[in-house]
Amino acid sequence: MRCPLRPLRPELSLALAVGAVTLLVLLSVHVSTPPSCLVPEEAPGAPALGTWRPPPAHARPAPCLANTSVAAHPEFAGQPQHVRNFLLYKHCRRFALLQDVPAEKCAGPVFLLLAIKSSPSNYERRELVRRTWGQERLVRGARLRRLFLVGTASHPHEARKVNRLLELEARTNGDILQWDFHDSFFNLTLKQVLFLEWQETRCANANFVLNGDDDVFAHTDNMVTYLQGLDPSQHLFVGHLIQNVGPIRVPWSKYYVPPVVTQEERYPPYCGGGGFLLSSFTAAALRRAAPALELFPIDDVFLGMCLQHQGLRPASHSGVRTSGVHVPSARLTSFDPCFYRELLLVHRFLPYEMLLMWDALSQPGLTCGQQRQVF
Ligand SMILES: *[C@@H]1O[C@H](CO)[C@@H](O)[C@H](O)[C@H]1NC(C)=O
Ligand SMILES: *[C@@H]1O[C@H](CO)[C@@H](O)[C@H](O)[C@H]1NC(C)=O
Repeated sequence: MRCPLRPLRPELSLALAVGAVTLLVLLSVHVSTPPSCLVPEEAPGAPALGTWRPPPAHARPAPCLANTSVAAHPEFAGQPQHVRNFLLYKHCRRFALLQDVPAEKCAGPVFLLLAIKSSPSNYERRELVRRTWGQERLVRGARLRRLFLVGTASHPHEARKVNRLLELEARTNGDILQWDFHDSFFNLTLKQVLFLEWQETRCANANFVLNGDDDVFAHTDNMVTYLQGLDPSQHLFVGHLIQNVGPIRVPWSKYYVPPVVTQEERYPPYCGGGGFLLSSFTAAALRRAAPALELFPIDDVFLGMCLQHQGLRPASHSGVRTSGVHVPSARLTSFDPCFYRELLLVHRFLPYEMLLMWDALSQPGLTCGQQRQVF
């Protein structure tokens, strides 16, 4: 569970409008290219830019059918659509990979793998993450690698559009992992599990993983400093620790989980899904636990269940603020870069805010102690 819902901010509406226009421009540009370039999985011989290659056709499992016997449950019919979909399809765990990253992504040592959950249409957020804290680079000798984890849109027309967008991004940036399932809130657990499975064969050499959302500001330099003191072959799972909570039973909540999904009234301790860090040891433990458990619709709670299954505990890091920022003193505003110098990750940044904060933190002459403000 991330943070309470907020009304749409005016800046956000503007960002959405700008996003829609950008998308239209992108698509109209794309339409003028030969049709053979549009559908990579049907044109395996098509010339690829750089090292990008379409994923092999054999990676396409048969479509998973709904488990219609769940509809016999007396509470099924009264549930909202997304809950019914979850129940009908939660046994489905194999989905084709529509976009993969170049084989060289994890060649050589990788210190920190940034695995960022993103919705297909969040193009601007991905662009800003690429340009700011998610830049693939060396930080004091430690190599950072970036991936975006995405599904598809549920509406077929929308799906065709975003699939083209993601193909374009994959070719240009080599950082898109896309699976052929509907990218919805209740399918985030599926996304998490599929990523861990992918990582086992494709990037198991990463010492640490940052799993997070595309609307966080991650202070990746600070993360490297923190992680360089730790051993990747030991358990590590840190973030914003949430304990002593249970399912929300009110149907209008985004986090609504009815008894037909779980009878449990308590969740195990877990870290808020906005962003958390784990070691390669713990990624392997989660990979062992996931197949043994039924999928649970709230992804961060599911990871708490996996940790519990393995006899491990999540921990708190005071530098991870996924439920808003408590500004430590009246002299500091929440956009003071000096305040962010101490943090690892903060939730809910607009794309332009990311750019401003990144720029402010990158100033060599950043002196703290006197009041400064980015905006
Ligand atoms: C389908 O649902 C029924 C009733 O909940 C359950 O007993 C069965 O195991 C499910 N089948 C699969 C393939 O998950
Ligand atoms: C999850 O994805 C599958 C495959 O696309 C879809 O059938 C199902 O409805 C989705 N579940 C939810 C809760 O969106």
